[in-house]
Amino acid sequence: MNKEQLQESFINLYGEQEGDIHLFFSPGRVNLIGEHTDYNGGYVFPCALSFGTYLMARKNQQRVVRFATTNFDHRGEVNLDVPFEKEGKSWINYPVGVLNELRKTAREIEGLDLLYSGDIPNGAGLSSSASIEMVTAYAMNQIFGFGLDRMELVKLSQKAENVFVGVNCGIMDQFASGMGAAGHALFLNCDTLDYERVPLNLEGMKIVIANTNKRSGLADSKYNERRAQCESAVEALRTRKDIRHLSDLSLDEFTSLSFLITDEVVRKRARHVITENHRTLTAIDALNQGDVGLFGQLMNQSHDSLRDDYEVTGKELDTMVEEARKIEGTIGSRMTGAGFGGCTVSIVREDAVEPFIREVGSAYQKRKGLKADFYVAEIGDGSKEIV
Ligand code: GLA
Repeated sequence: MNKEQLQESFINLYGEQEGDIHLFFSPGRVNLIGEHTDYNGGYVFPCALSFGTYLMARKNQQRVVRFATTNFDHRGEVNLDVPFEKEGKSWINYPVGVLNELRKTAREIEGLDLLYSGDIPNGAGLSSSASIEMVTAYAMNQIFGFGLDRMELVKLSQKAENVFVGVNCGIMDQFASGMGAAGHALFLNCDTLDYERVPLNLEGMKIVIANTNKRSGLADSKYNERRAQCESAVEALRTRKDIRHLSDLSLDEFTSLSFLITDEVVRKRARHVITENHRTLTAIDALNQGDVGLFGQLMNQSHDSLRDDYEVTGKELDTMVEEARKIEGTIGSRMTGAGFGGCTVSIVREDAVEPFIREVGSAYQKRKGLKADFYVAEIGDGSKEIV
């Protein structure tokens, strides 16, 4: 849907009124390496996609904020004079959660009419929810001149998801959506929040995202279980060394202290986090040296660790990755995001992209009975106003 079409829907919905109509955008993300490390104070390396969520907004001179989307029929509104309440599992909780966080910081929101429009596949693990939160936070900041910087908006959006929506996610998705830059991946230290935009020099190669179209209803509970296991690993390690989170340990330190974790499953979870941090640092070095081959190998190792130690892949993601690695011209392939379904990300030689999509798609369908979707990723900018 282009800007004119969106504006037409907006007017059909809310009518012709006085006041400026603004348009904002925040992208989804794909993470190249550094998975399940963000909530452990570790390293991540995501990039923003060119698809995401658009938000058209106009002040309405009333004490209500109205929400609608072009993606499905469900609409809603909140009254600005009463406390906000969560509405079941509705998508509206994402933007209302953001308004709620803004209110907590005593920032005055006035009545608005809002129309969202997303072109990210929902539930594919490409952070459609983070993009809804970020586009809302960014829009409020612009419209009402709150003067918050991007990092503050990122943190506020994560908090909205943790507190209001009730999903205990880390900071990666909101960060990538808010801070992305075309042609760059973002190297973020999730402990200090120091970051660097790293040019993605993938001459002659493409980033291919494959959606397994497998959704797991268990994703949230398994995600929280993994977080709890990491916390219990920290508890066990603390008996010998004063650490705040798993990423305080180097690989060598972990190797010599891992005996302190008596539960074998918890030890494996911790091993994934520590080795993944190590792989992420090595991968960024490799990219800076122009060694994309090594970057790809580290992506493969990341998947294998998520499969064997962290156990968040599942048959569909494993099958997709196995088939991807059979293609001559695949440099590396791994799951991306939380796991348990969703997408894989692969680096593929340009001339192999077409056979990749054809052959991986048909082998996956044969083996798993599901039709995959493929996207050749374009790396776009973070949150912005479209004028
Ligand atoms: C989800 C969460 C992120 C991160 C990833 C796993 O996308 O929202 O914070 O933990 O899973 O790397």
